[in-house]
Amino acid sequence: MQKAMTILGIESSCDDTAASVVHLSLETKTKDWKISSRISSAKILSSEIFSQNSLHEYYGGVVPEIAARAHAENLDICVSLSLKNAELNTREIDLISVTSGPGLIGGLISGTMFAKGLSKSLGKPIIGVNHLVGHALSPRLSEFSLGNPALEFPYLVLLASGGHCQFLEVISPSKFRRLGGTIDDSPGEAFDKLAKLLGLGYPGGPLIENCAKKGKINRFNLPKPLFKAPTCNMSFSGLKAAAAREIEKNFQYSSEEKKAVFINDMSADFQKTISDIFAEKSKIAMTSFRGKYYKNLTGLKFCVCGGVAANQSIRQCLENTSKKLGFEFFAPPIELCTDNGAMIASAGAEIFLERGCIERKLEIRSRWPLDTESAPLIGSGKRGAKS
Ligand code: KG4
Ligand code: ZN
Repeated sequence: MQKAMTILGIESSCDDTAASVVHLSLETKTKDWKISSRISSAKILSSEIFSQNSLHEYYGGVVPEIAARAHAENLDICVSLSLKNAELNTREIDLISVTSGPGLIGGLISGTMFAKGLSKSLGKPIIGVNHLVGHALSPRLSEFSLGNPALEFPYLVLLASGGHCQFLEVISPSKFRRLGGTIDDSPGEAFDKLAKLLGLGYPGGPLIENCAKKGKINRFNLPKPLFKAPTCNMSFSGLKAAAAREIEKNFQYSSEEKKAVFINDMSADFQKTISDIFAEKSKIAMTSFRGKYYKNLTGLKFCVCGGVAANQSIRQCLENTSKKLGFEFFAPPIELCTDNGAMIASAGAEIFLERGCIERKLEIRSRWPLDTESAPLIGSGKRGAKS
């Protein structure tokens, strides 16, 4: 039996106000399609993103209060535009899916209250989604929308974004096991900080990637903390500090020409160092994953997702590592790597279809670990592990 489901996804956990309408085709065996359905394909009917980059650029990072106000101003316009571009009206939506954590609390409140109001006024079900689940399931949405056979569970993910970095076994839409991750900063944060120090702008990742294309590697001896440790844990704050020291030492008295070369070479080295750390730690994660799930070496899948996964050089490096270790490699298209509403729409639907019911209480959580059973990281500083 064929069924379909249309979901409105709303995302406002950081600095992008995003809304999207996703249409899912479902295969179902029983009348109660909400319980026994499988997604057979997906179509992203619209995906609107109101970027706040120009508001935060001056500060070189996201200012939570400014972000929350901008979300509150833009949510209605963004959602209306997304429905208009999907050529649907609100009555045709089956489910409202909204990011309810983790992230900046002001933005989360703006988005969730807006979605709750919409749900109440329309009498439509609502589901609160963990932003990290949206990223971790985004490779599945990407495959569904390409019409490829689903990327089946379990698979291994490296989720690398502006606020998080972790290796996860994705066991089901609501079950994850964390194998390790950053003990301090996220790689996205490190890219953003470097770009700020080099006077490039915000967000840093794409700007550094661009400069790295023109630079030469191996000029600077940047550190790779925890590189040799036999775990999947990583650290990026020392890398950031080392780059800052080099900039302080060399940058200010240089000619404009030398500065340009410095920026490109530093970008190339910085990006390469992060790629190397990812590759090394991915090998450990892959070996652990294979030992646990796939003794016969077939069906192994490795995905990279989150904003940092938009980086072509990092994708290429991880694709090579995957090949070497016998893993099939997946990376969503760039527009599904950085924050978007489509991944929230489809993740909400996956959880909805898995559970067959909706939580009565939609809690807003600024912290929300995916794997609640993993041990807390020791030595990760006053604020604790960011993921
Ligand atoms: O997933 P995302 O959009 O938001 C969070 O959930 O944090 O990730 C944003 C981060 C930013 O730090 C940005 O600099 C980084 O992803 N990023 C990149 C690239 N594009 C975005 N980092 C490296 N290379 C890129 N091309
Ligand atoms: Zn994100």
